[in-house]
Amino acid sequence: MKKLISLAAAGVLLLGLAGCAGGGTTAGGDAAGPKATDQLVVGFAQVGAESGWRTANTKSIQSAFEEANIELKFSDAQQKQENQIKAIRSYIQQGVDYISFSPVVETGWDAVLNEAKAANIPVILTDRAVDSKDDSLYVTFLGSDFVEEGKKAGEWVVNEYKDASAPVNIVQLEGTTGAAPAIDRAEGFADTISSNPNLTVIASQTGDFTRAGGKQVMEAMLKSNPKIDLVYAHNDDMGLGAIEAIEAAGLVPGKDIKIVTVDAVKDGMQALADGKINFIVECSPLLGPQLVDVITTLNEGGTVEKRILTDETTFTQEQAVTALPDRQY
Ligand code: AHR
Repeated sequence: MKKLISLAAAGVLLLGLAGCAGGGTTAGGDAAGPKATDQLVVGFAQVGAESGWRTANTKSIQSAFEEANIELKFSDAQQKQENQIKAIRSYIQQGVDYISFSPVVETGWDAVLNEAKAANIPVILTDRAVDSKDDSLYVTFLGSDFVEEGKKAGEWVVNEYKDASAPVNIVQLEGTTGAAPAIDRAEGFADTISSNPNLTVIASQTGDFTRAGGKQVMEAMLKSNPKIDLVYAHNDDMGLGAIEAIEAAGLVPGKDIKIVTVDAVKDGMQALADGKINFIVECSPLLGPQLVDVITTLNEGGTVEKRILTDETTFTQEQAVTALPDRQY
C-alpha cells in the first residue's frame, strides 16, 4: 500500500513539472536540450523605418543575430498593426523557435499572442510593451522606461523656467497614437510639469514619430498659436522636422522657441550641439545584443527577468559636443 502511495505521489510530481515546462513563460529550452545556435530560428516583426532610432534598432538586431550565428527572419510592418499580426502568424506557421516584436500600438495583441502560446513559441517583447491582462503571453519585455523619459524631459523644462513669472506656452509633438512611448512620454512629462502652473501644454498632436510628420504638425501649430515658447517632441525626428518649420517661419530654433526631444540619435545630437535643440533624453536603440542574450539563456533552459530595463542618460548642448565624435548611430 505504502509503495502504491509513493508511486502515485511521484506521478503527481512529474505531471506537475511537465505542466510547468509547458505553461511557464520564463523558462525556454526544450525537452531534447538546447539547440545549437546555428539551428535556432527567430522571427522578428519590426515596427517600420519611421525614424533614425528605428534604423539604428534594426541594424543592432540584425548585426547581433549575425554575430551570434542565429537565423533571423525579419519583417517591416510599415507602422501598421495588421502587418505585424500577419508577420507573427506567418512565423507561427513556419514553426520558428522564438518570436520577438516591438508592438506598433499597445492594445489588440491577445489573440495572436494566444496563438503563439498554443504553438509553444516563446514571445519576447522589445522596445515597446503590450497592454494585456495576461502577462503569460510573453516571456519578457526588454526596453526603456518611457514614463521616466517623459519625466526627465519635464524636469529639464521645470528647471529651465523655474523663475518664469508669465505663462510658458508648450506644444507637444506626440508619437504614434496608441503607441507605448507616445502614451508614456506624454504622461511622465505632464505629471512633472504640473508642479509649475505657469507651464501649459497649449497644443498636442501626433507627428507619428516621423520627420515629415513633425514638420507638418509644427507648421500648423505655428500658424494657429502666435506665441510658442517650447516644443516637446516625443522623438528627435519630429523635433528635426519642427526645426525646419520654425526656420521657415523666420524664427530661431533653440532660442526663439526652445526644443526638448527624446532619443539622442546622431542627427538629433548634431542639432543639440549646434544649439537648435536645447535638451535630449536618451532612448537607446541598441537592443540587439540583449535580445540575443535572452534567447540564448532561454535556449539553454535558463530564466530571465520579466522586465529588462535599458540604461539611459540625458544630454545638454555642452554634453552633445563632447559625445558627438563617438556617437555610433
Ligand atoms: O519606440 C521607440 C520610439 O520609436 C523612438 O523613440 C522613436 O524614434 C521610434 O520611432
